[in-house]
Amino acid sequence: MKTPCRIVAEVLQQLRELVVPGVTTLELESAALVATKKHKAIPAFKGYAGYPYALCCSPNNWVIHGMPNATPLKEGDVLSVDFGVLYDEFYGDAAVTLPVGKINDKAQALLTATEESLYCGIDQAVVGGRLYDISHAVQRHVESRGYSVVRDYVGHGIGKRLHEDPQVPNYGIAGRGVALKAGMVLAIEPMVNCGGYDVKVLEDGWTAVTADGSLSAHFEHTVALTDHGPEILTRLV
Ligand code: MF3
Ligand code: CO
Repeated sequence: MKTPCRIVAEVLQQLRELVVPGVTTLELESAALVATKKHKAIPAFKGYAGYPYALCCSPNNWVIHGMPNATPLKEGDVLSVDFGVLYDEFYGDAAVTLPVGKINDKAQALLTATEESLYCGIDQAVVGGRLYDISHAVQRHVESRGYSVVRDYVGHGIGKRLHEDPQVPNYGIAGRGVALKAGMVLAIEPMVNCGGYDVKVLEDGWTAVTADGSLSAHFEHTVALTDHGPEILTRLV
């Protein structure tokens, strides 16, 4: 799974540089398609349950599953970009939330806390632990900063399918859940709101937005559990 995950990391790194005021998420989609093809990989989301794009692009109060569109991004926006590929029978999946130009302190604090919460979860992805040790660590960090964890969407196992068991919630009771074993690969993906945790899905059937209109962020890594600790497969080395 190292190859698909490295491709995901490289494409996200390339997109990061394109996220500037004035760019549209459809332009990011085009860049992602070209890069995926160059790596001889297949976009994982396009065609998944009828989803029509390679990227999910979710600005500001959009939580996840936003579709690329022709609206230019503005200075001060934050944009979550979620991307996955299939390569040689295995999947990789990751997401980042990026600043568009200069963002305010409130937005930056949300991004920082959400990314930190992902690493708090990853730290618990250790053999001998339990699944909800991960969930609890994410929740604890998020709530300690005064934010809320989205309940309606969760992380997941990943491998020969994009979504495998177990589901990986971003909230839970430490010490519970399945035993963590070497060889498991999990997509850990906290979605964090400035306001309440409720989300609603727009009429397109995909776009999840915060119910109260508050800002939201999303970070995701694909992580392998090994006897030597968690290995972040979608990290650029
Ligand atoms: N990273 C998200 C997930 O793991 C993105 C899925 S988008 C979909 O669920 F279109 F493929 F559903
Ligand atoms: Co995922």
